[in-house]
Amino acid sequence: MSLQLWLVLVGLTAALFLAACSRSPAPGGIAPTPIPEDATPEMLSRGESLYQANCQSCHGGATGGTMMTIPPPHNANGHTWHHPDCQLTDVVLNGSGEMGEMMRRMMPAPEGTPRMPVFKGTLTEEDIRAILGYIKTWWTEAQRQSQARATEQLC
Ligand code: HEC
Repeated sequence: MSLQLWLVLVGLTAALFLAACSRSPAPGGIAPTPIPEDATPEMLSRGESLYQANCQSCHGGATGGTMMTIPPPHNANGHTWHHPDCQLTDVVLNGSGEMGEMMRRMMPAPEGTPRMPVFKGTLTEEDIRAILGYIKTWWTEAQRQSQARATEQLC
């Protein structure tokens, strides 16, 4: 391939990438879901009870923690919002797997730090949807929009 053609291709790819990243929620574009579209007050309060019973002891609440804390906080200080809904649901159903290993290498977990349990058989996908909806109320608007775009693109 000639150098010119190669440069054109690289330029085009970069332009496409930038266009994809700056896609705005304008009419016709992706409308980011602030909190799940169908989140009703009942769903969020169910999510809150489920979270308090099953998750809070390890992951904490609406405030505290940092990006490097393990178990990771699910609030705006953590990195839960970096992951699309399908990945979050998979971790809750099946445990953290390879992603958990990577996390524990990056943020050295002290001896005896518990692992993310498997909730398949305990929680339904609907339960998890309610929990995620509740967690999303802790994020900033920008975090919610970014996570909604990732969900739209990757799930
Ligand atoms: C016994 C402690 C414990 C409990 C209880 C627990 N987790 Fe976790 N969770 C962890 C740890 C530790 C990690 C980090 C990965 C690892 O080490 O396995 C993690 C990772 C995660 C992750 C991926 C990281 C992130 O923030 O994106 C999600 C999502 C998650 N947990 C959600 C939940 C939800 C929802 C519940 C309740 C239904 C829950 N966890 C209950 C310990 C726990």
